[in-house]
Amino acid sequence: MCGIVGYIGNREAYPIIVKGLKRLEYRGYDSAGITLFGKAGKTFKTKGKVADLERIAGNNNNAGNTLGLGHTRWATHGIPSDHNAHPHLSNTGRISIVHNGIIENYASLKKILTENGYSFKSDTDTEVLVNLIEYIKLSQDVKIGRAVQIALNQVIGAYAIAVFDLDRPEEIVVAKLGSPLAIGLGTDEYFIASDASPFIEYTNRTIYLDDNEMAVISRDKGFKMYSITSDKALTPKIQEIQLSLEKIEKAGYDHFMLKEIHEQPTAITDTFRGRLLIDKHTINISGIEQHLDVFKNAERITIVACGTSWHAGLVAEYLFEDAARIPVEVEYASEFRYRNPVINKGDIVIAISQSGETADTLAAIKLAKEKGAFVFGICNVVGSSIAREADSGAYTHAGPEIGVASTKAFTTQLTLITMMGLRLGQLRGTISSQDFERVGKQLTKLPKLIERVLKYDSLIQEIAREYKDATNFLYLGRGYNFPAALEGALKLKEISYIHAEGYPAAEMKHGPIALIDENMPVVVIATNKGHYEKIVSNVQEIKSRNAKIIAIVSKGDESVKLLSDHVIEIPEITESLVPILASVPLQLLSYHIAIMRGCNVDQPRNLAKSVTVE
Ligand code: F6R
Repeated sequence: MCGIVGYIGNREAYPIIVKGLKRLEYRGYDSAGITLFGKAGKTFKTKGKVADLERIAGNNNNAGNTLGLGHTRWATHGIPSDHNAHPHLSNTGRISIVHNGIIENYASLKKILTENGYSFKSDTDTEVLVNLIEYIKLSQDVKIGRAVQIALNQVIGAYAIAVFDLDRPEEIVVAKLGSPLAIGLGTDEYFIASDASPFIEYTNRTIYLDDNEMAVISRDKGFKMYSITSDKALTPKIQEIQLSLEKIEKAGYDHFMLKEIHEQPTAITDTFRGRLLIDKHTINISGIEQHLDVFKNAERITIVACGTSWHAGLVAEYLFEDAARIPVEVEYASEFRYRNPVINKGDIVIAISQSGETADTLAAIKLAKEKGAFVFGICNVVGSSIAREADSGAYTHAGPEIGVASTKAFTTQLTLITMMGLRLGQLRGTISSQDFERVGKQLTKLPKLIERVLKYDSLIQEIAREYKDATNFLYLGRGYNFPAALEGALKLKEISYIHAEGYPAAEMKHGPIALIDENMPVVVIATNKGHYEKIVSNVQEIKSRNAKIIAIVSKGDESVKLLSDHVIEIPEITESLVPILASVPLQLLSYHIAIMRGCNVDQPRNLAKSVTVE
């Protein structure tokens, strides 16, 4: 996590960096800082958001500083505070650094540095790194680029760093291992950032550094890239950026989360456009088509993911087993990587990740590759680390998701997963052509159906008003609706800070039912056709314990409606697609409750969008 931004060129650095940091606040927002260099160079840093940094920094828009480094932090080592905020300066004050990642062996490095007379003002691993760089520079009499390289070879951990040395005022040194780093190439100016969003209005040419790559970026001499481990000079791969400015702004919505909820019809269309070819009776996902044998012959699939993406993985488990008759296991990436999982050659491991940067998911696929699995990545962010590390994959094409709570990323993951399930079923001969066509056609209707569900906004606001002060919520569902219940509960807890649990409806009687009384709102997703009477019985069990029931039902439902205090009717659709449709009212419910409780929905406390620490 953490976002870094840098600039070197002929313009005023401060406004470019501050605007860029605001775009990267999704990566962390507990403290912020900036180092400027030029006519009135200075370092400012503070606990809080970028807006707090602007308050303490004052007006630097015409100060004549044409070089700068900025940082927005998600704390790992050391609490959010002014002194733990980046940039960190070396003991002489001549070298400054911004860092995203974790230096795992910082304690032993700190000990060596302390023995050599260094002292530390913060509790961070980053301050250790900048002093290690300085110690190497001074003791080995090398330039800053070389000192950075030597230091990084002594470091264990993950980093994207940008380093500035007053002794080389015309250059910035950057390096990457594990955390993302992009360089924007302008005319006689360079931008550095954790993703391309801070510089899209200035240039559409970028280089995404790969792991173990570093660059020395010089105002007048351009930039040179090297391997951190082998000294080898590298040829940069310049790419054209596909992002547009309007896509990363709020477009009239009060919050990114609300905008992203409303973008789902378009985002889902973008996911299936050009792939779902019902007229031709096929689905073309190139990452599958290029590896047909692997998908035909695999004996099992393991899915690794975290958070919301893990919930998408659970839906995939139900769907792939149902449509393609292949055993599927869904694993938390963080658990998978620290076990000794049984993965055989020929197994498929699917990683699901919006950001494509989640450290645990990335580590899990590296482990799976080592064990001989074929790794398929489902990512949203184009060019992200997981997308690059995977053997093959498919993008969800949801567009930038900036609100920390995942919304359109989830429903587009489910859209892609549905297409994959259908295609695998077709390839393996386990799905009838009627079912293939029926589900495929329903998928194309989803954007219109979501538009209809979005119109329930005022009904959902009323429900939110009634329950905004609840301290606990339960979410229940059976079958495909169980992962939808988990996702509904996660949405509520992460943005409104109300404790919420998702359960398979039938598990209630094995313990959680003890929690139920008249103060417990229970959200039930009760659209099931197959086991309708079972979910009706579950709702009855809850009702007889006086809970308040908010039910999501299919149009035409009769029994659940009668038992519920509030009913949200969603259009009738095949069971495997309900999680997509039912997620929309659940997202809106969380959104409105959080707003009514005065919470910051786009930047909930303690969270960050991209979790690049383990
Ligand atoms: C919840 C949320 C997180 C992410 C999780 C994985 O709304 O966004 O639970 O789903 O951190 O992130 P990705 O999908 O980027 O790997």
